[in-house]
Amino acid sequence: MCGIVAALTASGNVVPDVISGLKTLEYRGYDSAGISVMTDSGLQVRRKMGKIANLEAELLSNGLPNSVQAVAHTRWATHGVPADRNAHPHTDDTGEVVLVHNGIIENYAELRTWLRGHGHHFQSETDTEVFVNLIAYHLRKLGDLHAAVRAALEQAHGAYGIVCMAATHPGILVVARMDSPLVVGVSENGTYAASDMPALLHLTRDFVILENGESAVLTASGCQLYDAKGSAIERPTQRCDWTPEQAEKGGYPHFMLKEIEEQPDVLARTAFDRFHDSNGDVDFEPEFGLDDAELRYFSRLRFMAMGTSLHSAILGQQMLAKLARLPGETLNASEFLYSPELEEGDALTVIISQSGETADSLRAMREVQRRGGRVLGICNVMGSTLAREADHLILTHCGPEVGVASTKAFFGQLTALYLLAIRIGRARRVLAPSQGRELLNDLRALRPKLDVLFGKESREAVRVAADYLAGVKSCLFLGRGMNFPIALEGALKLKEISYIHAEGYPAGEMKHGPIALIDENFPVIAIATPGRTYDKMISNMEEVRARKGKVIAVAVNGDSKLAAQADFVLPVPEVPELLSPLVNIIPLQQLSYEVALRLGCDIDQPRNLAKSVTVE
Ligand code: G6P
Repeated sequence: MCGIVAALTASGNVVPDVISGLKTLEYRGYDSAGISVMTDSGLQVRRKMGKIANLEAELLSNGLPNSVQAVAHTRWATHGVPADRNAHPHTDDTGEVVLVHNGIIENYAELRTWLRGHGHHFQSETDTEVFVNLIAYHLRKLGDLHAAVRAALEQAHGAYGIVCMAATHPGILVVARMDSPLVVGVSENGTYAASDMPALLHLTRDFVILENGESAVLTASGCQLYDAKGSAIERPTQRCDWTPEQAEKGGYPHFMLKEIEEQPDVLARTAFDRFHDSNGDVDFEPEFGLDDAELRYFSRLRFMAMGTSLHSAILGQQMLAKLARLPGETLNASEFLYSPELEEGDALTVIISQSGETADSLRAMREVQRRGGRVLGICNVMGSTLAREADHLILTHCGPEVGVASTKAFFGQLTALYLLAIRIGRARRVLAPSQGRELLNDLRALRPKLDVLFGKESREAVRVAADYLAGVKSCLFLGRGMNFPIALEGALKLKEISYIHAEGYPAGEMKHGPIALIDENFPVIAIATPGRTYDKMISNMEEVRARKGKVIAVAVNGDSKLAAQADFVLPVPEVPELLSPLVNIIPLQQLSYEVALRLGCDIDQPRNLAKSVTVE
């Protein structure tokens, strides 16, 4: 969705810094881009519909002067169609104040009427243009930019992350946030603001993260933070352990491919430092904040998330039930608001989100807390809203995930959930130290096994299956038990990036409807690795083939019995059943990638999708 980058230095030109920051946010999905700079003769703005490359072309033909101060934005349309006039930055009707804004001002229509009554004129359909005129209105009365922004925010309802500058206030940027992320980066060369840390990693790794309701005044030498009441406050900077290289493609044609291939490293980063081998237990960092006694207190779990993270949630519920003997339920976070308000009592809610900014998941978290419950967040982004507001936290340490279709973050979530299941299982004493050690060793042994999936033979098998699958219109992914969520995730990956219609089903459900679709043009992707579900999966594959349906099977290397029932085999190494989802998802990610490649799709930025969905 929308992205913000802004920079301020004492000397030099920040335009290239801001544009390259904007490019690292391209993955969020956007439909237009723009930039504004401060010059001796006032503010200048350039905006262009489409990709940042269009904006760059505009800057070449219609050059911008060098400047020590710039704000830039990528827009994902909410109010008003994608068009140059609706792109950010927006200025007030005198061109003296400029604003970039993420989020939605809900009462913008009333504010526009009110401002028209005070003589303001509008050129776009956006809520942001209303907002910047409101700031300009107050600036004229108050004469101070920070005071004007605060006065405008008091009149506006909704969500915002904003950066504002005014021709009357050179050398200053004013930023504020409410329910939309905003970070301030500081370095000895300047001060920066962005909606996401990766946009500033080429400039700094030291950040001040704004809380809801807070604002800040940025100068080239630092930032002054203010609380929701407008009182000056201090907050130490936080160092981000992500590197700029992690947010770059590093020679890969797509971020998605790079992120698929990083998964063996994600396993190590998420898990290995947390092993407590002598106790067969797991050590989470202090922000986990739950000791054995507290972990024994909870008698039920609730998992909530959206998208790919929801599939992790279903698997988390299964892992926790198996290893910690704790019953649980999994809900789509967007539905929780409508659930009857029952006693939270001794329930722990686990909210899973790669970004930590998904609006539905945050809303669910706050609703649980309002109902008196406690929330454990599992998240990949330090300083994100989930990371800050959850009562307890596990970071997945996957490094920045840029491809819109989530891959390595899913893998990191499953790894973290497996660790959580061991931790709670040990605390509840349903796992002995020796069992804990065995489970940790299984995870350690997984790493070298994953290499097989990136070998020549596996890649070739994926390519052959992709040649076929790229020609179909619709397909079904089937799995059972722990591989049912993998069927859901496999189907989601394929539809997200190749636009081929795909549905994931528990294989047992096939005969209750989907089987009617099967013919020679409707294939089934079956996950049939060893375990309790193996024989039943083979029967289901036979049923598909009896109706002339083609079968692509995820099967362990050398399983000839299964290969006889499949038209294509995606081979995987044999691992304990509990870890099979972490292995089985990888060829399905690779398959989606290869299919999308054959169809010429925009793999890292699929149409209509956004990396982080910050509106409900
Ligand atoms: C969007 C993304 C998905 C992601 C989902 C949840 O739909 O395109 O890849 O799974 O949001 O995001 P989260 O950051 O909460 O995991």
